[in-house]
Formats: sequence, structure tokens, C-alpha cells
Amino acid sequence: MNKKLRSQDWFGKKGKDGFIYRAWMKNQGIPADEFKGKPIIGICNTWSELTPCNAHFRELAESVKRGIIEAGGFPLEFPVMSLGETLIKPTAMLYRNLVSMDVEESIRANPLDGVVLMCGCDKTTPALVMGACSVNIPTLVVSGGAMLTGKYQGRSIGTSDIWRFSESLRSGIMTEEELNLAEAGMCRSRGHCAVVGTASSMACMVEALGLSLPENAAIPAVDANRKVLAQLSGRRIVDMVREDLKPADILTRQAFENAIKVNAAIGGSTNFVIHLLAIAGRVGVPLQLDDFDRLAVDIPLLANLQPSGQYFMDDLYDAGGLPAVMREMLDALHGACITVNGKTLAENIQKATALNKSVIASFAEPFKKNAGFAVLRGNLCEAGALIKPAAANPLLMQHTGKAVVFENIEDYKQRIDDDDLPVDATSVLVLKNVGPKGYPGMPEVGNMGLPKKILAQGVTDMVRISDGRMSGTGFGTVVLHVSPETAANGTLALVRDGDLIQLDVAARQLNLLVDADELDRRRALLSDPVNTFSRGYNRLFVTHVEQAHLGMDFDFLKGSSGSEVLRDSH
Ligand code: FES
Repeated sequence: MNKKLRSQDWFGKKGKDGFIYRAWMKNQGIPADEFKGKPIIGICNTWSELTPCNAHFRELAESVKRGIIEAGGFPLEFPVMSLGETLIKPTAMLYRNLVSMDVEESIRANPLDGVVLMCGCDKTTPALVMGACSVNIPTLVVSGGAMLTGKYQGRSIGTSDIWRFSESLRSGIMTEEELNLAEAGMCRSRGHCAVVGTASSMACMVEALGLSLPENAAIPAVDANRKVLAQLSGRRIVDMVREDLKPADILTRQAFENAIKVNAAIGGSTNFVIHLLAIAGRVGVPLQLDDFDRLAVDIPLLANLQPSGQYFMDDLYDAGGLPAVMREMLDALHGACITVNGKTLAENIQKATALNKSVIASFAEPFKKNAGFAVLRGNLCEAGALIKPAAANPLLMQHTGKAVVFENIEDYKQRIDDDDLPVDATSVLVLKNVGPKGYPGMPEVGNMGLPKKILAQGVTDMVRISDGRMSGTGFGTVVLHVSPETAANGTLALVRDGDLIQLDVAARQLNLLVDADELDRRRALLSDPVNTFSRGYNRLFVTHVEQAHLGMDFDFLKGSSGSEVLRDSH
């Protein structure tokens, strides 16, 4: 290691400044030699009892610390705001960018030479990666791992079943008592959701990008190997500091292309698109919405995991984990990409084997031929919209139907089960004002439940369109992320009850079949968007958040400010 450690700008100082930097740290009982040139590694922890998926992170951090100490580093754990998907109102996505700012400023402002990011529940991964990328010191991700598969009446269940249970309850197939039993069996252990929802998609994303050690994505939270991985990660981050291996060295355009392809092969979350775009924006890699369609169009579904398939994350681990999936698709990946352990992706997965063909398929005989996202264009979504065909009904991939419009989520909740709602199975449900600015925060409500009277006919899917997101655990013929959103006066704002909407996934088209003159007339009636929040974080958010097709970052957060601290007040 030739480069001077940045932490020495604090602890290496003499006189009054060095005294202040060191003396107060010594109140924690730290011997003087810890400050003499050891790499100082921050452990950025999203532990919180309000984030149940990350509630085991203090214990996991102890394993990381052990590894750091073994390798000759000095660990310092610090908290950042945590985002629990299930508890936070109005939606955790509102705060992803806020957490990224917390992370970025906490890393830069403190005497850290490297950082381990403790990531779990959905937004904690992108938020921490975004923040760390904007500082660009050596960084390694340790994910918390998925929980054990849920059980109900002798069968496996996961988060995706919540949507099924909810429809069953509304249509009278399931009783409240049975729902309570399912609730008791859903979350059997520590860890995040057991399906390939957003949290597991994010854990796979960091492994595919090369930001974690191999195997990080799929080791269950309760498996002792999760702690082993944490300890090895602690050892490795110290070496990364010595080698000066930083996120910008790892996160090349090729690494992003790998992540896009891997997300398709596992049937990953649609939220992946928004988060990866935001991360790319932080490291300055040009990435477009269309890349998610174009690059993955020939990638088949290789992992048979819910919500696109049958199994759960612990099944993936038993079947060989993400390395085995990537091994099957190596010819489609950039194997030369460097990863945090200093080896290439190809080297890391060289010996991986798929151990269970019902969970991991070969590239030649996949579970589905095409697994990626379709990026739609048309007059209803000039800047794009997204659909996940693998989780949708093939019979609805080409569909024209009359719009049933809900002006906002409250309107939807109030009227969806009205007997008088003018809806039939061919209708297209349209939900407005759930976009980045309109809600604000773009909640996961796009896979809105079907009207009771349609469910009673035995119908289980309809075309649904919104400017919102969908839980990574959700499914259905759901068009999401319509951009520009209603609140930015996108064409979605012009849709009225009874208008014909045409979806053609093969042609990548989504159109409102209303003539242009009429649309102009309607557009002239719209007023200019206004920020209705007079103060606080919501005002900042609505003023600066970008549209979904750009990744929903704040316009002023793009790029990196580096790790240099410009002023020193001592
Ligand atoms: Fe945390 Fe699903 S609620 S990962």
C-alpha cells in the first residue's frame, strides 16, 4: 500500500487537531496503536427494529468486524436511516434518496478508508450503494439474506401469496381465520422476503455487479454461512483499501449490462430498473431505459423462483446460488469484469454448478424463452413504461379495452368494489397520480386488486396501467412506471372513462386511441404542475425528483463529489 490513508488526515495529525480526533475516540477504550496507520473501515449499518428484514444486522456486523480485525484493519460501525418496506408510510421509496444522502455525507465526513454496506430490505441496498458511489472509496456490500420459506397448511408460501390471499379473501374463498394462520406462518425467521422480490433482486444485483463476494445473494439469513461470508467480507475490504479498488473501478458499463441480464434470468423485480438507473447516474455510466429491454431480450428465465416461478431463495441457495445461474449464462455475460475480491466474474463462477434442474435451468432448456422486461412506447407513455411479461398473462399481451379511470389511490379504494362500477373483464384499469411527484414517492400500488364482481366471475388478471410501481413480489398484466407521470401532465393525465387503450407488448406499444385534436383539447384544460408542499423533505422531493425512466434520483445528486473534505474547522 503506497497511498496515504485518508483516515490519517484525522488520526495521523499532531498537536491539538490530532489530540481532538483521537482523544474522544479513546473514550470507547481504544488503544493508541489502532490509530497508527491501520485502514479504518466503516460498517454502514441499516439495523433497525423498525426494519424487521434487517433486525439481525448488529449480530452480522460483529462477523464483519472480526474479519476486519483479522486482516489488520480497525472497524467502526455507524448507523444510517433504515427503510423498512412494511412499516414506513407513505412509501419507503420516498426516502431512498434521503438515505443515500445520509450515507454519502456520513462516509465523506468521517475518517474512513473503506466501507462495508449492510443491506437488506428493498430500498436499503440501492440507497447505500448510491451514497457510497458518490464518495467512491473502497466499498463492499454484505446483504442480510432471505428468510426461510413460509409455510401454510403444509405448503410453501412467500410474499407473493399475500396478493393471492387478499383476492381469495375478497372473493370469499378464504376466511379471516385462515388468513391469520397464513400470517403466522409467513415470516419464519430473520431475513428479507423469501421470493425474488426487490430485496433479493437487489442482493443479486450487487453480486452481478461485482460489489459483493460470490454467494452473497442467496445464502439464507439464518445459515451459518451468512456469517462466514460477512467475516470474509470484513477481511477482504481491508485488502481492497490496500489495493485501492473502488466502486468506479468495478461499476463499468459492462458490469451494468451483466446486472441487467442476470436480473432477467432470475425473473427479478421491476424496481430493479429504477434503482440501477439511479446507481448508474451516480457513477456516470450512461444507461437508458431501453437498455433493459434491448440487452435482455434474448435472456431466458433460468431460475424457477417466485413470483415468476415456483421456488424460493433458500431453494436457489441449495441449487447452487447465483454463481450457478451466472455460470449457465456465462456466454451472455462480460466475464472479464473485475469484482470486489479482485477476481473477474468468470473466475468467480468457474466452478459453480447447477445442482437442481427444477430450480436452475440450462441456457439451452430454460423455464421460459424470454424473461426480461418489455419497455413500452406510444402516446400514453412518451418517455416509456414497463411490463414484466414473465409475470403477466400471455393472453393479455395484445389487448384493447375501455379505460376505467381512478384519479388517485383513495378514489380506487373507494370505488373498486362498487356494484355500479362500469367494468368488465376486458376493461383496462387506469390509476393516476401515483408517480414520483404525484403521490409523492411512487408507491407500489400498480398491481391493484381486481374488482370484486370480476373476481366473482373467476377472472384472475386484467390489464392495469399506472404511473406507480409494483412490489417485486407482485405479478399480473401490469403496466408500470408510465412516464411522464400524471402529475407532470403526461398523457396519462388525459385518460377518461371509456377511452380505448391498446396494449401490444410484442410491438412494444401502449396507446390511447383518442384522436390528436381531442387530446389537445384535453391538454389545454390542464393546469401547470405545482408543488403543493410548502416546506420540509416533501418540498425538496417534489422539486427535485426525476421521472421514473431516469431512475427517480434527485437532479442535484447525480454524479460523485469524491472523498475529499474541502474544509477543516479544527
Ligand atoms: Fe423487507 Fe420484503 S419487506 S424485503
